[in-house]
Amino acid sequence: MDSTDKVVIAVDGTSGSGKSTNSRLVASSLGFNYVDTGAMYRTLAWYCLDRGIDVNDEDAVSSTVSTWGAQLAERDHALRLEVDGYFPEKEIRTAATSAVVSAVASYPAVRQWMKDIQRKCLSFGSMVMEGRDIGSNIFPETPIKFYMDASLDEREQRRAAEGVIEDLAERDRRDSQRKANPLVVSDGAALINTSGLTPDQSSAMMLEYIKKKLSEQGGPDAS
Ligand code: DC
Repeated sequence: MDSTDKVVIAVDGTSGSGKSTNSRLVASSLGFNYVDTGAMYRTLAWYCLDRGIDVNDEDAVSSTVSTWGAQLAERDHALRLEVDGYFPEKEIRTAATSAVVSAVASYPAVRQWMKDIQRKCLSFGSMVMEGRDIGSNIFPETPIKFYMDASLDEREQRRAAEGVIEDLAERDRRDSQRKANPLVVSDGAALINTSGLTPDQSSAMMLEYIKKKLSEQGGPDAS
């Protein structure tokens, strides 16, 4: 349990494995905030594209995070980054943003900035936070961690159903092989393979595990 007694549920895993859908369902069922850290990296990638900042120029992107003034905002129990009060909801899901987000996310100065802001999310209350390094790097101390995966075929079909055709294997490769905080199965993470499962089924498995962990810790909502 975190020293503030707020609960952090860390959800990491591959692209298209169902992290977002399941994290939202779990957060809503527990009355926790939901935090999509991928959206934060996407917001930075969009910002660079929008302002003509070269995403392959590490120095330029690194200095951007110290000046861009993005701030945390809570909307309907979800936390996100806003730039001058604006959340680029549609822009961060375009093929152009998806193609460059891994590059932006590979820079150590960017990751440190994101770590600082992601840890601040806890001041808004207990949360389900999803990403690639939440259990290994952002909140390594939390006892409740998941690693989600599914077959490449199924992950590509899910993305296609959302209207997105993307080389997920390539993005997984970049996310897993980068030097700074790569995607790994963190110590103590419960593995959830969502292949062939509906979101109701996988989120129910997660909730059962969370309730068991919370009751072991004597934490809130352990019933
Ligand atoms: O979850 P997503 O596909 O929206 O994430 C977009 C990219 O951001 C992904 O390719 C890797 C990166 N990312 C990361 O490096 N660390 C995180 N905690 C979350 C996302």
